[in-house]
Amino acid sequence: MKKMNMLVNPIDRKSHINKEIYGHFMEHLGRCIYNGIYVGPDSSIPNTKGIRNDIIEAFKQIRVPVLRWPGGCFADTYHWKDGIGPKSERSHITNVNWGCVDEDNSFGTHEFFDLCELVGAEPYLAGNVGSGSAQELADWIEYITFDGKSPMSELRRKNGREKPWKLKYVGIGNESWGCGGNMLPEQYAGEYRKYSSFCRNYSDNKLYRVACGGDDEWNETLLTKLKSGAAFDLVNAVTLHYYTILGNDFAHKGSATDFTEDAYYQSLKNTQGIDNSISRSIKMLDLHDPDERLGLIVDEWGCWYDVEPGTNPGFLYQQNTMRDAVVAALYLNIFNSHSRRVVMANLAQTVNVLQAIILTDGEKMIKTPTYHVMDLFKEHMDGTLLYSFVDNDYENGIACISQSASVDDKNRIHVTIANMSLHRSYSLCCQLPYIRIKEAAARILTGEVHSHNTFDEPDNVIIKEHALKHNSNEIEIELPSCSVVSVEIIPEQQI
Ligand code: AHR
Repeated sequence: MKKMNMLVNPIDRKSHINKEIYGHFMEHLGRCIYNGIYVGPDSSIPNTKGIRNDIIEAFKQIRVPVLRWPGGCFADTYHWKDGIGPKSERSHITNVNWGCVDEDNSFGTHEFFDLCELVGAEPYLAGNVGSGSAQELADWIEYITFDGKSPMSELRRKNGREKPWKLKYVGIGNESWGCGGNMLPEQYAGEYRKYSSFCRNYSDNKLYRVACGGDDEWNETLLTKLKSGAAFDLVNAVTLHYYTILGNDFAHKGSATDFTEDAYYQSLKNTQGIDNSISRSIKMLDLHDPDERLGLIVDEWGCWYDVEPGTNPGFLYQQNTMRDAVVAALYLNIFNSHSRRVVMANLAQTVNVLQAIILTDGEKMIKTPTYHVMDLFKEHMDGTLLYSFVDNDYENGIACISQSASVDDKNRIHVTIANMSLHRSYSLCCQLPYIRIKEAAARILTGEVHSHNTFDEPDNVIIKEHALKHNSNEIEIELPSCSVVSVEIIPEQQI
């Protein structure tokens, strides 16, 4: 087995890793919400206020920090007043983006905030700019956050919620250069200036307003146009969307489970491209915002394949293998490495859609390999990034090892490592100078690259304890091919 060296420097502290980097995205799309997260209070599937109990528990286990809702493309067709009040009186609409199915609006604002409260996640709303109005968004924020007496807060009380909710994250539109209105950057900048002015802070609620980002040209125009006058104070972050998609033809992206070794390595190369995309967005932010007030939010990321055979093409239902696990680990290590500016990221999409962490079939529910990666990485949340370096090995044009390290507020060091090679296992020697290691333990997710969990075999791919050896400042650990590993190190002294 080939030896490989890594260094983690416990006293070289970098940026704070916002817990929101481990966030998720849920859209009114396919079976993400209906027949996924939300089954309704009358369902025979155990639920709390209509939300599946097994999903609440699974979200809590990985400490889902933030949930983005209601879309996606759906957000720019969503009128929030359709989704409040007695369910029998709620308007039906057609979900024109995703299969033209009936949307009965039984999951609306109250249900979403119930979910966030049950799970302990921050809500992140995507406001409708494409087909809505500034007044409609202003009313939504008043409805949710206003403590005093006003038409919207009274409406909220009438609908059973006395106290306002807390709301931090508000997105002003989604992909406004595409499904959110096919706008030009100048046009969107104008819309942003207007909409954000009407997103008010009520009582002690403080909004964090998020602008839709795009390519370099879009970002350059947007940031330039937002900089004049008071509008710049009304933007806190700019977004980036990035999907791992194979093939030149969007109609043939390849199967989630039946893929060649070449396709696997293409997925990794494609994913690696986010490093460059993030760097370009950050370069633009550094230019226009040298004081580093603005964040970058990757509020949609993940693998996008052809739908599972026999399923509705508009529902984007796909399986999830060890390939997805390795890809997720690569994304998350890259996000950590850019945590100076990357303040949030949201995997697309929580349940039954794209690179889901959970799949359901009636009362059955399984956790995907990507879920387990979220579990392995969760200790980075709200930690401090540490300098790390690996003397890498290369295969098919990709670096085989991806890693990141952090220290948490309990003085524990966490290292996450992916061995992306399909053929090479490594004996890794990780040095941690300046400390004496008291205890160390590791967990691993590994398997043949096509392996995945099914409703009949839900535990094909699960996390296991993993042996390691350590002396005072060195760890030795095996990295099998196609594996994701997390290591926790407890030093003897305070770092
Ligand atoms: O996640 C699916 C879709 O991908 C979202 O609705 C949209 O924002 C993106 O193009």
